Amino acid sequence: MATVTLTNNITGKSYELELLAPSKGSALIDVRTLYAKTGLFTYDPGFTSTASCSSNITYIDGEAGELRYRGYSIEYLAKNHSYIEVCHLLLTGALPSPSQFKEFDAELRKRAFIPQSMVKLFHAFPDGSHPMSNMASAVAALASFHYEHLEMQESQDFQIMARRLIAKMPTLAAFSYRHSLNIPLIYPDLDRSFTENFLYMMRAYPTGPREEIRPIEIAALDTIFTLHADHEQNASTSTVRAVGSTGAHPYVAISAGISALWGPAHGGANEAVIAQLIDIGSIDNVDAYIARAKDPKDDFKLMGFGHRVYKNFDPRAKLLKNLLDELKEELGVDNNLLKIAQKIESVALSDPYFIERKLYPNIDFYSGLILIALKIPRPMFTVIFTIGRTVGWITQWIEQKMDTEQKIARPRQRYTGPIID
Ligand code: CMC
Repeated sequence: MATVTLTNNITGKSYELELLAPSKGSALIDVRTLYAKTGLFTYDPGFTSTASCSSNITYIDGEAGELRYRGYSIEYLAKNHSYIEVCHLLLTGALPSPSQFKEFDAELRKRAFIPQSMVKLFHAFPDGSHPMSNMASAVAALASFHYEHLEMQESQDFQIMARRLIAKMPTLAAFSYRHSLNIPLIYPDLDRSFTENFLYMMRAYPTGPREEIRPIEIAALDTIFTLHADHEQNASTSTVRAVGSTGAHPYVAISAGISALWGPAHGGANEAVIAQLIDIGSIDNVDAYIARAKDPKDDFKLMGFGHRVYKNFDPRAKLLKNLLDELKEELGVDNNLLKIAQKIESVALSDPYFIERKLYPNIDFYSGLILIALKIPRPMFTVIFTIGRTVGWITQWIEQKMDTEQKIARPRQRYTGPIID
């Protein structure tokens, strides 16, 4: 058994702590018995050096810029498999056979409808409300329609619960958006695939000729969903697990994850990147914004740059950058914003401030430019992230339920207040 020795220089006592080996990546010091043995806690705001669970779903090597789902590289999956196949992979641990795919795809299509009375919920939101708060509310409300998911015992029940939510996310998202504009809702079309259906529900008129949805648009959005499908223990997934650890309903745990994702330091960055590019306005202003990002007295951050885990190019950003190049000719992109983004990237990647801190473009730097080309409105950018990420959240929730080592998430603190007797 490999161990590390911790010596308390005040008391002179030494303690052996076990080292845990992962299948790949850094070894971990098992501190679960630390308090019992030593009376000491670890202190780690933001969990920069703390693993909260064992997981066999997603692997990230931040130094190498590597991301894998169930062992497969993200590059391989994005090139060779659809988002629905990736959902099957994450949920079950294996890519589907042709017959499994047919069945899984048909089940998701069939489950895409939402309870009719939930439409009243959307009517309760004010016009112009942000689709992310509508989404968090709608997913929490789904728990009220499916209390039976509190009592799940069999793995088949977990799968039904998961597939039900994954299938409904595009419908909830499109309803959120259409209601925010006060335009008629469009119901799912069973003849369309998951990704095409979402674009259809976003764009269609209730009657009359249908606007063409091009295969290249469906393929691009499908890739975006795949690249967002899971990302191990990020802030929103950790939120889902923390809520899940209390025994709450899985859909309210996912709703909490949606709320965590909305923040601009996390998934909300895709919306914030475009707002920032518009604000910068011209390549002539890029240097001034870079100077602000470097100024320690200014809390301004270059959105779409930096990552807690990646200390190299985010592999998802690399794939999206290539996708953007492919779409440029076919769909057209906002050239002014693209030029500003390209200048930011080239200035930042050669600037010592960014090099020393290993700040590279992350997934959100390019996704917004692609979403604009797909005619997705800006308030929907983070909602696109939630559609893709739901499979990851729910797979992590299920894994946690099956994990006998998991306990209620309950960190300690360093108290700095007074004691008044
Ligand atoms: N612009 C300028 N400086 C930055 C940036 C940035 N985008 N990101 C980090 N830094 C600096 C930071 O000020 C700090 O400098 P110093 O050492 O002088 O104090 C240093 O780099 C380390 O940063 P940190 O804040 O300690 O890093 P973190 O791991 O706590 O934060 C982050 C990671 C993603 C929250 C942060 O990089 C950030 O706010 N980036 C912009 C928002 C963004 O693009 N978020 C999307 C993340 S990817 C999608 C997802 O999975 O959520």
